[in-house]
Amino acid sequence: MTRSFQIVSDPSKRVEATLTVPADKSISHRAIILSSLAKGTTTIHNFLAAQDTLHTLQIFQQMGVNINRDGATNTVTVTGVGLHGLRSSSTVLDVGNSGTGIRLILGILSGQPFKTTITGDASIQKRPMKRVVDPLTLMGATFSLTPTGTAPVTVTGKVALNAIDYAMPVSSAQVKSAILFAGLYANGPTVVRDPGRSRDHTERMMRHFGVQVENPDATSVIVFPPPIDLVSPKELTIPSDISSAAFWMVLAAIRPNTILTLLNVGLNPTRTGIIDVMTAMKVNINVSDIRQVEGEPIGDITVKSSRDGLTAVTLDQSTFDMATFIDEIPIIAVLAAFASGVTTIRDAQELRVKESDRIQTTLAMLKAFGVVADELPDGLRITGGTVQHVGTVESHGDHRIAMAGSILSLAIEGRSGIIDVDCVDTSYPGFAQGLSLMAAEVIYS
Ligand code: S3P
Repeated sequence: MTRSFQIVSDPSKRVEATLTVPADKSISHRAIILSSLAKGTTTIHNFLAAQDTLHTLQIFQQMGVNINRDGATNTVTVTGVGLHGLRSSSTVLDVGNSGTGIRLILGILSGQPFKTTITGDASIQKRPMKRVVDPLTLMGATFSLTPTGTAPVTVTGKVALNAIDYAMPVSSAQVKSAILFAGLYANGPTVVRDPGRSRDHTERMMRHFGVQVENPDATSVIVFPPPIDLVSPKELTIPSDISSAAFWMVLAAIRPNTILTLLNVGLNPTRTGIIDVMTAMKVNINVSDIRQVEGEPIGDITVKSSRDGLTAVTLDQSTFDMATFIDEIPIIAVLAAFASGVTTIRDAQELRVKESDRIQTTLAMLKAFGVVADELPDGLRITGGTVQHVGTVESHGDHRIAMAGSILSLAIEGRSGIIDVDCVDTSYPGFAQGLSLMAAEVIYS
């Protein structure tokens, strides 16, 4: 049965709250992967126990890694098997809804002395896999996938892989990371050249596990295959996910009478584009107490109601690094709906191949509330100040559309509905509790 949120909102009620959103999804995937490939035991604190990352955890268990999760403390203990200790799974590996899971794990499977089939849900089976399969084929692994270049993917690994020097046609941290993981199994240093500035969590965490990783320039990276094994740092603490915090940051900006503080948020500069965009749109936002936690900067973010002063902005690659806020575009679109003027988002064609076609699904979400907006081949155009009425949003199975629609609902008076909200659990368990804190009433049925 498809579940939904009915959200009754009363924005005249004052809300001042401090929240800690769940752990970073990108970093949680990488923590499981690298801890599994290291020798020794790694305790991961504040692991994201969401559907996407739990699928990655289960996949490494299926490949013979001893992983225990304590749900009460959000702690995961991984007894790594070493770079060459994975074993073939007796069943097909299932990533669920996770594009990061499938692409990163394909990089590792490419260097294994066995054949594996990996797949995921209906959305994953529509998403492009050639972007990772092409470079991994150059490295010597063999693949079979559907005629449209999608999962299920069967990969036959090669020992050792060929080191390559690869220029990615699109800026993608998933593709870069797949190649870097395969690079751990290569016969020399592997170079990846990025046309943009995709998130660098893999590089940072590899260094934390003792791998030699260098940046010959701002957008290129070289990984050197480790001479022996990865060194477990023993303990890892995952910061809160700025992509989850972004929903509450935007809510505080667009809802009257609201002040929200988000604690311990990951502030990796390849992820903080949302802060730059909000600043450009004149949101009252403040970042404080910046500190380093195991190779990643974190801090606290406070946002105060700013609805009256919000201004539209043009977001494209010439003015902003689009990759640094690509996952936040649905919620930035909600912010734009309250900003005076026309916001234009370009150079965001990657949105078409996310969990849904996010250009179409973001547009439909806005239109459900009467917002004046239209679709561009590579983005959206949104006229601010045009939210006209409460709405009913279809998530299309996309967590970020369900959450962006919920935030818009909270900012206007009355009852709105979000249909098909189970997908929220792929990245943000507990989102419904946050909603209840901000709404007059939430019915979760
Ligand atoms: C991710 C990379 C990005 C992002 C995704 C997570 C990662 O995708 O959209 O949600 O953890 O590496 P692309 O690499 O396809 O841009």
